[in-house]
Amino acid sequence: VCYLFPLVMASLCHGACVEVDSDTEAVANQGFKLGCISCKMRGEVPATAAVNWYFKASDDDEFSHLYSYEDLIGDVIDPRFYERLDWNGSKQTKDLQDGSIYILNVTYNDTGTYQCRFNRVLMYPNYEFQTNASKTIIINVVPRLTRGMASIFSEVMMYVSIIGLQFWLVVEMVYCYRKIAAAGEEALRESAAEYLAIASESKDNCAGVQVAE
Ligand SMILES: *[C@@H]1O[C@H](CO)[C@@H](O)[C@H](O)[C@H]1NC(C)=O
Ligand SMILES: *[C@@H]1O[C@H](CO)[C@@H](O)[C@H](O)[C@H]1NC(C)=O
Ligand SMILES: *[C@@H]1O[C@H](CO)[C@@H](O)[C@H](O)[C@H]1NC(C)=O
Ligand SMILES: *[C@@H]1O[C@H](CO)[C@@H](O)[C@H](O)[C@H]1NC(C)=O
Repeated sequence: VCYLFPLVMASLCHGACVEVDSDTEAVANQGFKLGCISCKMRGEVPATAAVNWYFKASDDDEFSHLYSYEDLIGDVIDPRFYERLDWNGSKQTKDLQDGSIYILNVTYNDTGTYQCRFNRVLMYPNYEFQTNASKTIIINVVPRLTRGMASIFSEVMMYVSIIGLQFWLVVEMVYCYRKIAAAGEEALRESAAEYLAIASESKDNCAGVQVAE
């Protein structure tokens, strides 16, 4: 595949970095990955990076320092997130490109705005060059059942409509069967009457003939 589509696949095949946006809808009491990827523009240049996360709850006015990751060590700074955050970014390297973190047990208080900031130092042979990047993610915490409810509702509606349609079909069949049966009886009665009429007519005729003779 890499051979056939060299231009398209080059980045993927060399394991190079793709900046994917984070999900923004977290489910209460479940884990949630706050994604933050900052690709190094010059992949061949060695670099080190530190990642800092900031959090502004929906009723806060300012960002507060939430988490820092530098030199392979992560540190939860905001007490609201003690014991609840894990590093989910690049592992076993100081050249970070993925700065994602993982909230172990999301609460409604985690609703708010998150910002991740990359401080990267590119190390050229003769000098160092610092670049910064930041991403802002607005997280909405939803109850466990939003999607479940919707799918349960549509499933129930599916059964209701299937059963409803089949019931209607059965009613229609019984109705038609009765109508056909009634029509059949009518037809029988009619033909019987006709037969009798013909019979009596021919009898009359016979009588007439007989009388005429
Ligand atoms: C997550 O937090 C809620 C409320 O704080 C608690 O009831 C629940 O047991 C926690 N779940 C896990 C997996 O820690
Ligand atoms: C992110 O961290 C959580 C908790 O430590 C872990 O369960 C999960 O597998 C990690 N995901 C990745 C992609 O590293
Ligand atoms: C959420 O915040 C409110 C007010 O700050 C606090 O009373 C409550 O205990 C918090 N809930 C959780 C699950 O942390
Ligand atoms: C990058 O951020 C650091 C710390 O936040 C700051 O000291 C530095 O001046 C910034 N560099 C650039 C190029 O913006």
